[in-house]
Amino acid sequence: MITKMVGSLLGVIFLFISASVLAEVPDRRFDPLNQTCRIFQFTQMREGAGFFKKVCLRCHDGSYDNGMRFMPELIPRSFSPERWTRIFTEKYPLCAQDGSWKELSAEELLKLNDYLYRGGYGTWEDYTPLEC
Ligand code: HEC
Repeated sequence: MITKMVGSLLGVIFLFISASVLAEVPDRRFDPLNQTCRIFQFTQMREGAGFFKKVCLRCHDGSYDNGMRFMPELIPRSFSPERWTRIFTEKYPLCAQDGSWKELSAEELLKLNDYLYRGGYGTWEDYTPLEC
């Protein structure tokens, strides 16, 4: 009886532990541009955050642009991780097309993509399957 209880208790604890391991924020992503696996490191996250603040938030800051259009504030959670990668891979937003991203090199854009991917919608709450 006691051993059975201890056994099921251990089982429950084990479930909790494996669930919390699964819920971890992804530490890598597949980069379709270069067909590589990018492992996230602290420096690259910090650099990516810097590029985001310096370039993207200059316009996407919850204010009005020159044409008096409202620009909602952009945050990593604005899009899912996969969507961020698509944004940087296809570069379809208007601002990417009109050259507003030009001051960032291809390598810097990858780091920015890494940073936004990691903080993308759902990564802190759900299990995001590792892409590579
Ligand atoms: C010079 C101003 C400017 C800068 C800098 C800028 N953007 Fe934009 N961005 C815009 C404008 C204007 C649009 C189009 C908004 C619209 O059509 O409503 C846009 C659209 C977007 C969209 C599409 C939004 C949607 O809802 O589909 C994304 C994503 C985006 N920008 C991401 C970025 C990222 C990432 C950066 C930094 C690398 C950045 N932008 C830098 C002005 C800017």
